[in-house]
Amino acid sequence: MEKTDYRNEPDNTAVFGSEEMLQPAPTDTIPQYGTRPEIAYQMVKDETFAQTQPRLNLATFVTTYMDPFTTRLMNEAISVNYIDETEYPRVAVMNAKCINIMANLWNTPEQAKWKTGALAIGSSEACMLGGVAAWLRWKERREAQGKPTDKPNFIISTGYQVVWEKFADLWQIEMRTVPLTLEKTTLDPQAVIDMCDENTICVVPIQGVTWTGLNDDVEAIDAALDEYNSRTGYDIPIHVDAASGGFILPFLEPERRWDFRLKWVLSISTSGHKYGLVYPGLGWVVWKDKKYLPGKMSFSVNYLGADITQVGLNFSRPAAQILGQYYQFIRLGFEGYKQVQHNSMEIARYLHDEIGKMPQFVNYCEDVVNPLFIWYMCADYARSAEWTLYDLQDKLKQSGWMVPAYTMPKNIEDRVVMRIVVRQGFSRDMADMLLDDMRAAIAELEKLEYPTPSRLAQERREEVQGSVFTHTGCCHKKK
Ligand SMILES: Cc1ncc(COP(=O)(O)O)c(C=O)c1O
Repeated sequence: MEKTDYRNEPDNTAVFGSEEMLQPAPTDTIPQYGTRPEIAYQMVKDETFAQTQPRLNLATFVTTYMDPFTTRLMNEAISVNYIDETEYPRVAVMNAKCINIMANLWNTPEQAKWKTGALAIGSSEACMLGGVAAWLRWKERREAQGKPTDKPNFIISTGYQVVWEKFADLWQIEMRTVPLTLEKTTLDPQAVIDMCDENTICVVPIQGVTWTGLNDDVEAIDAALDEYNSRTGYDIPIHVDAASGGFILPFLEPERRWDFRLKWVLSISTSGHKYGLVYPGLGWVVWKDKKYLPGKMSFSVNYLGADITQVGLNFSRPAAQILGQYYQFIRLGFEGYKQVQHNSMEIARYLHDEIGKMPQFVNYCEDVVNPLFIWYMCADYARSAEWTLYDLQDKLKQSGWMVPAYTMPKNIEDRVVMRIVVRQGFSRDMADMLLDDMRAAIAELEKLEYPTPSRLAQERREEVQGSVFTHTGCCHKKK
């Protein structure tokens, strides 16, 4: 049947009786004619039909559950563009209120009514803005001293998230990495100091390291930098990448000093869409004071009906997430956030304990400091197992769970680990279901008489690299 303009077609054909359901979906070119909305809806919906349930995805840090009121609120604002401040001035004010709340949660000393910060599409943009500000401050200072500015560097652990590699490559700033090892599981302050020089724009400790869930010791790094800066006359600052920890520490460990209470912490970034409990598309960066945000980073335009000044890499961006964040602040309050984060932490600790008791596994660390953790196979067990954690990942996928297996960063890349991120929307009951599915999957894998392809691949890698099983980590199996 020749397809014609759908407006001339009878509209009583059932969706699955339509011609479109016999045709492949467009891949390369836009279709000549449109189709009925219910058919278009069905086709798009069906493309993602087979995907895992988002709440069973324990790989992502990003929010997969919000209550129906926020969902309504955000859906109602789906057409609002944040940049149109003249049309939606209250959204800009709401954004500024969120920045104030974040800044105060992180103990800003800034006294101004409106604290200095910026909205971002996620932590990646927020990290970039923090990094660019540090680079421009360093550059301005060097230029004023008549010194060269062609070799900037920053210091971070090998546990960095990929955004920092992008920052280094896109802005041509050398990334100096302190190796994480099985013994040194977080950024070592002395190693940081050993890498600092006059071209260091900032040091970047992480709160909630993506690979491990651990926190770098910002207080110790601040103290080491304080001594180094006073000895050398440099003023190397800290940008804290608190993508996850920025919304955990203020509620669960308010006495821990990692934020603006520390002298050299000049900027902090976080993801509103992780433990900020908002659906994807939201990050925040806050500076300790307006003077640390270089003027060059504010761009003004006059064609939206007023002079609009904006800090950010994107121009247009959805405003719905700001409404979602502000709703969560009002809905939950400090105590509500504390309860939600506490539950995530307790469930993570429960899973950590139960997985630690399994004879096949060892937890990477004894502590769970954010609601996520990693584990690996016991050396003794791994020697004779016919399967790897990649096989377990595949088996769990059959029950809908996404629990990722991956190799650790440089220097310990021969170590394969598995990670669970617990977020709002994951209950103790679901944790028990996951544990049951894990035990059943392991029982199946243990029946194998021949090695799996991933086990064979691992053996081939070991032959090339030397055995991984000779490692003893910092965290041994408890007897
Ligand atoms: C430590 C850290 N920094 C930055 C990011 C990037 O965050 P986003 O996905 O919000 O851009 C992540 C994401 O997992 C992260 O864990």
